[in-house]
Amino acid sequence: MPRQITIFDTTLRDGEQSPGASLDQASKLRIAHQLARLNVDVIEAGFPYSSPEDFEAVSTIAQEVRGPTIAGLARALPEDIESCWEAVKHAEKPRIHTFIGTSKVHVEKRLEKTEEQVLEMAVDAVKLACSLCDDVEFSAEDAMRTDLPYLRDVVEATIEAGATTINIPDTVGYATPPQMAETIEYLFDKVTNIEQATISVHCHDDLGMAVANSLAAVQAGAGQVECTVNGLGERAGNAALEEIAMALKTRADEFDCETRINTPEIINTSRMVSSLTGIVVQPNKAIVGANAFAHEAGIHQHGMIMDRQTYEIMMPEDVGLSDSVFTLGPRSGRHGLQHRLEEIGYDVPEEEMDAIYERFLAVADKKKQVYDEDLHVIMRQASASAAAEVYHLERLQIVAGSSAMPTAVVVLGHNDEEIQHAACGNGPVNATYKAISHITGMEVELYDYTIRSVTRGTDALGEATVRVKRGEEEAVGKAASLDVLEASALAYLNAINMLLLRER
Ligand code: KIV
Ligand code: ZN
Repeated sequence: MPRQITIFDTTLRDGEQSPGASLDQASKLRIAHQLARLNVDVIEAGFPYSSPEDFEAVSTIAQEVRGPTIAGLARALPEDIESCWEAVKHAEKPRIHTFIGTSKVHVEKRLEKTEEQVLEMAVDAVKLACSLCDDVEFSAEDAMRTDLPYLRDVVEATIEAGATTINIPDTVGYATPPQMAETIEYLFDKVTNIEQATISVHCHDDLGMAVANSLAAVQAGAGQVECTVNGLGERAGNAALEEIAMALKTRADEFDCETRINTPEIINTSRMVSSLTGIVVQPNKAIVGANAFAHEAGIHQHGMIMDRQTYEIMMPEDVGLSDSVFTLGPRSGRHGLQHRLEEIGYDVPEEEMDAIYERFLAVADKKKQVYDEDLHVIMRQASASAAAEVYHLERLQIVAGSSAMPTAVVVLGHNDEEIQHAACGNGPVNATYKAISHITGMEVELYDYTIRSVTRGTDALGEATVRVKRGEEEAVGKAASLDVLEASALAYLNAINMLLLRER
């Protein structure tokens, strides 16, 4: 009988800590519903004590998403744990996840405590959490750089205090697969009450070994893997959920383990997360990259025609890719659109459907075929425009060409007023940004600007992403349009609106 591995998804917590990946509440709820369809066992919905917005997001997800356990993160401090419980308590299956650093550098330098004090804090935190919730997870942060005998003591004491899951994080992505396996084996060998808890791992990808380390831990007996969609997460990210799920499925002969992941939902989930976070998936990314199932070399294509198994170890259908590309057009109708949105993971409330249909028609009228990728962008724009805006773009007129001085005339709407400014620049985008900065009074440093085509063809939607800085504050703006100059203007304005709202 294969062993069941619990999949703990932390896209909405650790994944959201990816630089530039901030998600609004509506997007978090959408992703949580999609994670439930993907059938993850646990959703870590956020860190409730860290901000009122995070509290609200975790609490809404706990009340609305059914199926998976809903966990919240809390430092090993009473106020964090109590706030976490308040946020998760309405979930069908709530979990409090509390943590404290256990490596020497964390104990002595960051926490400025002794190992005895940290052990006591961990035990007190677990006891408090257990007095509130039946399902408590404890993480020994930076476990992979913690002295093993001390790690053993912490694990044994927190199980004794009532923790039902013990997580061994490789917080800085320092471990190697053999070391990971040895650590898990050591704990199984030395912790006397280990059978009373599930052992979990949480691996970061700083050296590109997060998935390999997680799988080594599974082979050594770990029963839970913490991971994120598309491998998002702090710095280089976490172990990628889709890679863990497909490795355990494809190499069941090797691991003799299984997950409950509904793998045909992988692509929908990956695309939704990429679109809502604005973090593009690299084309050669395993499982979900655009090239993951593409065969370029003639010899490979020939082999594939003879027998798919020559060069394919997984079926594209297993992750939700099919040969037939589904497209919509201007005549697909409101129901056709709603139905396809549901199929790719968006349950759109009736009252939001009119606005979304209007956006869809605006794209469909200009573009012959609307692909799923376009629908993800339309849905991201719908979320973005539901968020408060200080300024909005009314009109944009640009003069550019090989012999013309690039000039932009921008008209922005603000408090029922129209404000206009014309500026010249070294290119049309530069001229537009100068005009927007002038009107909004926001001088920002633009440190990244990219434009990409969402689908194929010259009539594809262009998606612009800008990263700007104002002092210590950073913002990422995104927008899509069939006109790349308009997309560039909207993305810049999106970032400026975020900074203005934060300032207020
Ligand atoms: O990387 C880490 O150690 C974490 C913990 C809070 C689990 O994210
Ligand atoms: Zn982490």
